[in-house]
Amino acid sequence: MAIRILGTGSYLPEKVVTNDELAQVMDTSDEWISSRTGIRSRHISIADTSTTMAVKAAKKALEDGGVKPEELDHIFVATLSGDHATPSTSCEVQKEIGAVNAVCMDLNAACSGFVYALNTAMAYAKAGMGRKMLLIGVETLSKIMDWSDRSTCVLFGDGAGSVVVEADPSRKIYIDAGSDGMKGDVLTCEERHLNNLLVKDDSPMQQVQMDGQEVFKFAVRIIPKSVNKILDAAGVSKDEIKYYILHQANRRIIEAAARRLKEPIEKFPMNVDHCANTSSATIPILLDEVHRNGMLKAGDKIILSGFGGGLTWGSVYLEW
Ligand code: COA
Repeated sequence: MAIRILGTGSYLPEKVVTNDELAQVMDTSDEWISSRTGIRSRHISIADTSTTMAVKAAKKALEDGGVKPEELDHIFVATLSGDHATPSTSCEVQKEIGAVNAVCMDLNAACSGFVYALNTAMAYAKAGMGRKMLLIGVETLSKIMDWSDRSTCVLFGDGAGSVVVEADPSRKIYIDAGSDGMKGDVLTCEERHLNNLLVKDDSPMQQVQMDGQEVFKFAVRIIPKSVNKILDAAGVSKDEIKYYILHQANRRIIEAAARRLKEPIEKFPMNVDHCANTSSATIPILLDEVHRNGMLKAGDKIILSGFGGGLTWGSVYLEW
């Protein structure tokens, strides 16, 4: 049993902040940011929350897939920036769209979150536990950034992407996923201190902190390794792959991965220039853009691949 994607949707907050606008409030420049990352602008939430963005993306995916909310048996939301610890973002989405029959769960694998959500949906389909499932990657990273740290805050943005999937025995899907908690300290966010009757710790919560160069090296090494692994598992040659939809963190990472895979850069669609890094949302947002631009037809073979905090990584081979 595999799954197939019935529909996609995405949502980006209205407010666009360019590199030049950032340069007015911090010591940076369009030249520094764009030459190192390919990022020119990002969307930043003013009125939206993770829940409102997730709901808007989900409604579009359901409409695109011709699926009614009550047909859903599961909602999986990948996020590290949900609005509350509880209720989960997936339960909030359920309430807003009226998916009364869905079992709802959030999962956090940072920027690999959407691939992990696909992995979970595939496992549920295989186990006969899931038939029609809604998957969402959503982040309001602007609320957890350290806006005084120019080396990190310029890289991220807000947004949501969603797909609705159906269990389908006729399709092939292969997944590779991995984690390396031993190296987790190169990308961290919001240390939660003990603060109880017995222990007092009023030190401020930490926001996103990153060793950019270490993350860069990790990404460039792990993407080709993971992609080659699922190509082998699927018994598919690179020539047969139409697109590689990679996590949109940095144009240079994607170009390096393409070189290492010996694949033309044209097979790597990108939107990092106008979305920046929206963590678990980048892959479904880009997939939605590619689909809505008419770049995919039935049977096309594609690979999705993500990497990020944890450290975590994952790749999916699927047939459109
Ligand atoms: N504007 C201007 N200068 C900046 C800056 C900014 N926004 N941020 C950092 N700098 C400065 C630093 O202070 C440093 O100055 P110094 O040399 O005087 O100390 C210098 O730029 C560092 O530049 P460089 O060595 O060229 O940085 P880099 O090539 O390593 O690029 C990143 C930095 C963050 C863009 C790069 O490491 C990267 O993209 N890493 C991956 C991060 C990522 O994608 N994470 C998410 C993964 S899910």
